[in-house]
Amino acid sequence: MTDLLTTVAGALAWARAALSEAAASEPLDAPLLLAHVLGCERAALLAHPQRVLTPAQSAAFRDMVERRADGLPVAYLTGERAFYDLTLIVTPDVLIPRPETEHLVERALAWARAREGSLRVADVGTGSGAIAVTLARHLPGARVWALDASHTALGVARCNAARYDLAAERVHFVQADLLGPLLGARGAFDLIAANLPYVPTSALEALAVTRHEPRLALDGGPDGLAVIRRLLAQVPRVLASDGLLLLEIEAAQGERAAALAAEALPGARVTVHADYAGHDRVVSAQWGS
Ligand SMILES: C[S@@+](CC[C@H](N)C(=O)[O-])C[C@H]1O[C@@H](n2cnc3c(N)ncnc32)[C@H](O)[C@@H]1O
Repeated sequence: MTDLLTTVAGALAWARAALSEAAASEPLDAPLLLAHVLGCERAALLAHPQRVLTPAQSAAFRDMVERRADGLPVAYLTGERAFYDLTLIVTPDVLIPRPETEHLVERALAWARAREGSLRVADVGTGSGAIAVTLARHLPGARVWALDASHTALGVARCNAARYDLAAERVHFVQADLLGPLLGARGAFDLIAANLPYVPTSALEALAVTRHEPRLALDGGPDGLAVIRRLLAQVPRVLASDGLLLLEIEAAQGERAAALAAEALPGARVTVHADYAGHDRVVSAQWGS
């Protein structure tokens, strides 16, 4: 088996066979891991299939593939994940940012770009900072507050803001239960974005991700909406009278989450948006419409 790991082509063939039985393994896992070990782009693997691996590279690759076969997500092995047009640092302290969340980011950017002037944005449950850092990078006139209950997650989010040279006065990191310390600031935010935990507790055990991703990032209580419901109770105190709330949800929660948002923000225009797969993914509530 070790002989197979002496060239790029051999290593990829071995890894694909080793991962073929692994739960949730993707065809790109093997090339992503090998490119990481070799410090090259994935395209270089295709261009140089006969490149010879050093014994140390073979050993490192074998170790990563075995850990991947045991279920550890690729992003935790490489320490990075592509999100929107960024590459974010991730550790097991944060949820691995998902492509579905890019949908919320696109909505936020489209809304923000249609407005004039400076913007005050809150990203509640920032995790890796995926939403906060992407919005701050694309909206130079925005000040962003990135909030999370997890101190260690905020550490990762800070690293991502630094990676993209976002000045401290552009992105503020706050350890908080939801919007807690900011609740006195009436009308303070033009945009509140939140991808909070929304998996029903009873569904958690069946999910492979719960073995590796933080439970605090996933557990949405009995019906999956417990944390979102608590946020909705806070939002009217801090959302500007013409502000927008964007919530990421699970596909089955569209109707219920929209009803909760409409109840919390009387008079708001509430809409459920589907993602590219056609699943309900984001609830928006435009106040003062
Ligand atoms: C689903 S993850 C989303 C992370 C990131 N926003 C993203 O989209 O990749 C939810 C995040 O909410 C945080 N969180 C959970 N409960 C919270 C609470 N009561 N107050 C603040 N943050 C909370 C978790 O620590 C986690 O980072």
